[in-house]
Amino acid sequence: MAPDLVVVSNRGPLSFSRDNAGKLVAGRGAGGLVSILGPAIAGRGATWIASAITDEDREAAAGGDVEAEGFRLRQLVPDDADYRMYYDVIANGTLWFMHHGLYDLPRRPLLNRYWHEAWEGYRRVNHAFAEMVADEAGEGATVLVQDYHLSLLGAELQRLRPDLRAVHFHHTPFCGPTSMRTLPTPIALELLEGLAGFRSCGFHSPRWAAAFEACCRDVLGNAPATFIAPAAADHVDIEKVAASEDCQRELVALDELVGDKRLIVRVDRIELSKNLLRGFSAYDELLRARPDLVGNVVFAALVYPSREQLPEYLAYRQEVESMAQRLNDEWGTDDWQPIYLDTSDFFPRSVAALRRYDVLLVNPVRDGLNLVAKEGAMLNERDGVLALSREAGAWEELQGAALEVNPFDVTGTAEVLATALDMDAGERADRATRLRDAATATTPASWLDAQLAAAR
Ligand code: G6P
Repeated sequence: MAPDLVVVSNRGPLSFSRDNAGKLVAGRGAGGLVSILGPAIAGRGATWIASAITDEDREAAAGGDVEAEGFRLRQLVPDDADYRMYYDVIANGTLWFMHHGLYDLPRRPLLNRYWHEAWEGYRRVNHAFAEMVADEAGEGATVLVQDYHLSLLGAELQRLRPDLRAVHFHHTPFCGPTSMRTLPTPIALELLEGLAGFRSCGFHSPRWAAAFEACCRDVLGNAPATFIAPAAADHVDIEKVAASEDCQRELVALDELVGDKRLIVRVDRIELSKNLLRGFSAYDELLRARPDLVGNVVFAALVYPSREQLPEYLAYRQEVESMAQRLNDEWGTDDWQPIYLDTSDFFPRSVAALRRYDVLLVNPVRDGLNLVAKEGAMLNERDGVLALSREAGAWEELQGAALEVNPFDVTGTAEVLATALDMDAGERADRATRLRDAATATTPASWLDAQLAAAR
């Protein structure tokens, strides 16, 4: 039977690989989107449409749809060259930079012929997704489209299947009209018309919705419907990881490493928007300003590689690694390593660090939400303090209980770290309780319900 609920995202809920016997096996897809959406839609008879990304995904796709934990997965196999243009050049190399304000404007964006061809690739992949949805969805079905990769589907689906109730959700920030004007006018128009074709567009924070509306008023002359629904970490799922043997082992190892020193933690992708370099600079200033902390604090940066097909990300990783090295060389002694940089991407280790921190530093220059801030608030067992960027979508919900970080102000960030480390036990406990309450006020199920309501 044709499904009455279809979820569409670029990265799917399953990622395929080969086991030792050479058999194709499915594991959970990477990333926050899957971890919140997967459990929420399980058991609702939904079909999830996503790109086949790896060779193994493509092999699995050749075998047809896959029945998985409570939903059916249907994979789109885009043309290889189109996929690179759509994913690397436009989605990650252009829209991600634009929405997060990451452009180095004297040099980028460079909208040359190659880029204009890439836009056609983006359009073709969006079109292929729209056709697959149109082919799959039942009469009047609800379609939940996720993220900036798939901005054009609203207009496409309106044309192909006007009976469908399609909504879009951006997991990123949305840029304002001035940044939108970096795009050629016909392309800005196509992008925003693509989004305006949905019944409604959802965002984690009112700031991003307001910016989207402002862009639409500027380019289209009117503002389409929007809704605000901050996502939440899956409590049950994450507690399960926290209770696992792997996590327990990691916690013991971390205890040995840290001893009786204070622990500052960050958990992030190695991603330009996450502001890793200014975080290290702030730590450097903290040590300079507070000799009493030298030798008595450890900064564990659990950061893992991401999108390394893009030269900017590769270069950034090198900068991050060499800065950590430089600070360790400068400050470290025989019995003290000030920074532990771990790039291994082992989730139970990240969860152990979130249970154990005294201070969690979340200082992105701009972030759609930031799930780590919420996961930390849920998991921490030491009344740890959250130092949170006011530019993260999660700031909206957590601001009363977190300390405010202006992510550009290195000295200010160092001061916030000092305040967090100096905070008395009473205030820490009070803030930690309020953080936990705020982080658990919504759930993946309530977030999904908000999208379903917007579709009606
Ligand atoms: C992060 C962002 C999401 C995005 C995802 C894509 O999690 O918050 O908005 O969809 O990255 O990551 P990928 O690894 O698929 O490029």
